[in-house]
Amino acid sequence: MTIQAQWDKFVEKCLSCQACELAESRRNVVVWRGGIKAPLMILGEGPDADEDRLGIPFVGRSGKLLDLLLSSFRLSKDDYHICNIVKCRPPGNRVPTREEAAQCRALLSEQLRLVRPTVYLLMGGTAYKYFTGSDEGITRVRGQWIETNNCYVMPTFHPAYVLRDPRNKPLLWQDFAAVRKKLEELSFLPPLRADDDCGI
Ligand code: URA
Repeated sequence: MTIQAQWDKFVEKCLSCQACELAESRRNVVVWRGGIKAPLMILGEGPDADEDRLGIPFVGRSGKLLDLLLSSFRLSKDDYHICNIVKCRPPGNRVPTREEAAQCRALLSEQLRLVRPTVYLLMGGTAYKYFTGSDEGITRVRGQWIETNNCYVMPTFHPAYVLRDPRNKPLLWQDFAAVRKKLEELSFLPPLRADDDCGI
């Protein structure tokens, strides 16, 4: 089966998922945007109203900030794969429960096997907690690489948090810069040109 065919089959499976009660209130299952094979996996928490309406992750205000970061660091669609801990919107944008995250994990694991990323950017405390299983606060762990199974995991702030408290913006930029540098070191990307200032 081609990679595209495997991917299409996976998406079909996501769209028909009824594993948890989020299926009852969702409008769309939000699977991904970006490349279906990509060196960088960007993980958020879960779809908000805009994402639920359109079926695409990070298309609202947080998504606009994420897009600014991606373009500032010259990352293009095939360099990254964006998805969330849960694929369906928790009502009222509440944080997904442990059970919902656990139910969605099987699909996320399958997604990771297909995309095969080497570098992970975990955006926000929920992504960090449910992806790693650690209860440490994001403020303590952000900006520090976790190396596991030949993969590199960078926890950082969620863009929504930075929008609420812009004093944290330089730290989000700093973590993105570290991710860009890691992708270069691993030869997934060429070095940035000297005149690329990336808005830091
Ligand atoms: N916040 C997230 O964590 N994910 C989205 O897709 C949108 C907002």
